Amino acid sequence: MIAPIERALAGLRAQTAVWRKAGETIGVVPTMGALHQGHLSLARAARERCDRVIVTIFVNPKQFNDPDDLKNYPRTENEDAQKLESIGVDLIYVPDPDQIYPDGFATNVSVAGLTDMLCGAARPGHFDGVATVVSKLFLQTAADFAFFGEKDYQQLQIVRRMAADLDIPVEVVGCPTIREEDGLAMSSRNLLLSDRSRVYAPVLAEVMQDLRVRLSEGATMSALLPDAQARLTAAGFTEVDYLELRDGGDLSLLDQAKPGARLFAAAWLAGVRLIDNIAVDETR
Ligand code: PAF
Repeated sequence: MIAPIERALAGLRAQTAVWRKAGETIGVVPTMGALHQGHLSLARAARERCDRVIVTIFVNPKQFNDPDDLKNYPRTENEDAQKLESIGVDLIYVPDPDQIYPDGFATNVSVAGLTDMLCGAARPGHFDGVATVVSKLFLQTAADFAFFGEKDYQQLQIVRRMAADLDIPVEVVGCPTIREEDGLAMSSRNLLLSDRSRVYAPVLAEVMQDLRVRLSEGATMSALLPDAQARLTAAGFTEVDYLELRDGGDLSLLDQAKPGARLFAAAWLAGVRLIDNIAVDETR
C-alpha cells in the first residue's frame, strides 16, 4: 500500500502523538525526493530499526546557491511514493513550504567550523540551509532516530553536531554509501552524466581506492596527490575541487592516515560535480 502523504504540520503532529502514546519509536529519513537506491537503503534501515517510519520530501530553497538549480531540481512525488511502497513506510511528509518557512521566518541554524571546508567552501550558506531545515524536521517529527547517508559525510557530521548542540533527542544514524556495480557512488546527479561521461565517472572511486591502499601503507597525501590528480585529468575530469584526507570526526586536514581518517573528493566531469568519500582507517 502507498503510504499516506501528509502536507500539514498539524496532521503530522496528530499522527506522531498517536504513535508516541502507543509507546512506538519513530524514525525519520529526510530527503529532497527524486529517490534512488541510496535513499531507499536509508528507508530500509529505518524500517528495520523503528516501529514507525516517516520519509520527508522537501526541496529546501535555503540550501541552494543557484536559483536555476532549485528551479530544475527534479520533483517526482508520485514515483517517490511508489518506490517507497515495497519498504512499507508509515507516512510521507511533504510539507507545504509555509509549514517549514512561515511568513516572517527569521532563524538560521549555523554550525561553525565543520561547514567552512570541503563542500562548504564552494557553497556559502548551503550547510546553514541544511542545518536549519533538518533541525525543523527533527522537531516537527519528534523522531527518535534519523537516517542519513555517508555519501554526504560532511552533512552527516554537521547534522550530528547540530543535534547534539541543540539537545535534540534524536539518534543520528549514518548508513553506508550505496554504489553502482562499477563503484560509482549513487547520486541523483549521476543522471546528468552523458553516456560517455558515465563510462569515466567510476575513475573517481578507483583513484580513491588506490589512494586508500597507499595511505594505509604509510604514504603521505602530499606525495600521492600529483599522480591522483593526473589520473583524474586523463579520465576527463576538468576540475578537482578537493581531494583531501581528513579526520572523520572533526574533519581536520591530515597528510597521513591515522585511526578514523577519511578521504574526500569533489570533481567535475563534463559539467557535473561528483562527490565521494571513503574510510581509510576504520579502527576508531
Ligand atoms: O541530503 C539531502 O537530501 C538534504 O540535504 C536534506 C538532508 C534532505 C536536507 O534538505
